[in-house]
Amino acid sequence: MTSSLARFCQFFYVAAGVLGAPGTWQVADGTRHTVDARQDNGFAVQYWANGNANLNWTNGQGGHFMVGWDQQSGGNFVVGKGYSSGDMLVNYTGHFEVWGNAYLTLYGWTTEPLIEWYVIESFGHHNPSDNRNSTCYGTFESDGGTYEVWMKWRVNAPSIIGDATFMQFWSVRTTRRVGGTINTTRHFEAYERAGLRLGTHQPHNMVVGIEGQQGIGSADITVGDLPSGTVPEDPTPTTRTERPSETSTCTGSL
Ligand SMILES: *[C@@H]1O[C@H](CO)[C@@H](O)[C@H](O)[C@H]1NC(C)=O
Ligand SMILES: *[C@@H]1O[C@H](CO)[C@@H](O)[C@H](O)[C@H]1NC(C)=O
Ligand SMILES: *[C@@H]1O[C@H](CO)[C@@H](O)[C@H](O)[C@H]1NC(C)=O
Ligand SMILES: *[C@@H]1O[C@H](CO)[C@@H](O)[C@H](O)[C@H]1NC(C)=O
Repeated sequence: MTSSLARFCQFFYVAAGVLGAPGTWQVADGTRHTVDARQDNGFAVQYWANGNANLNWTNGQGGHFMVGWDQQSGGNFVVGKGYSSGDMLVNYTGHFEVWGNAYLTLYGWTTEPLIEWYVIESFGHHNPSDNRNSTCYGTFESDGGTYEVWMKWRVNAPSIIGDATFMQFWSVRTTRRVGGTINTTRHFEAYERAGLRLGTHQPHNMVVGIEGQQGIGSADITVGDLPSGTVPEDPTPTTRTERPSETSTCTGSL
């Protein structure tokens, strides 16, 4: 593609608001976009932001994306790239820096039952299990580390079928990292052993994503690539402000 045609296409996509197509946007349009994986070189693309979000999102070639944000309280977005939800080895590499609340996660949905599941690889200030309505189910080993399994009820919350009441399953890695392989089968099996039943996996909605809330941050992630060297890991903070009696990690083997 010539550079002038590339410029034209970029202009066209911005003008048309086609956020799933490759390009860069500075956005806060309060809508959710999902794109069929087959429309973008085999990668699903997800972009969602609420009306208070303030971010720049670059949907790169293949599995590459970048995002930068600077948000007040109430700002919230999810961007990411991935595959159809299911059993696979998801590889990713990149950078994630955050001052405030944000998650680096592989996440997806099932229906019947409606479940939102997350593999949390890293986060800023807030550990998602630090919530009065969350329950620990134990730990398991996967992907070169240990993950805690938590469940949390969401009541009348946004979902892929509109506002609904549903469970969130969380695998929270006990050492934060950015890059590696996530064996989804191992996580799904751990939920099963915990008695947490997933439903039917949905096409094109399993993404390595960034969920940004209040704070500042940036991420540059490539899905489908492995890190070239050793990935540094740091212990996940276990302070739980909403659950002060449970500052120790979630225990018991699954
Ligand atoms: C988005 O990009 C614009 C143009 O480079 C810049 O002025 C702005 O500060 C960026 N916003 C965020 C939230 O990174
Ligand atoms: C992820 O990398 C592994 C090798 O470590 C490979 O077997 C697997 O196919 C890769 N997965 C994808 C989706 O590229
Ligand atoms: C816990 O769940 C109840 C409903 O069951 C809800 O009203 C409340 O806001 C939730 N609390 C938190 C901290 O999410
Ligand atoms: C992925 O997890 C499954 C289920 O635990 C296991 O059988 C398989 O060997 C794992 N794959 C890799 C590459 O570790």
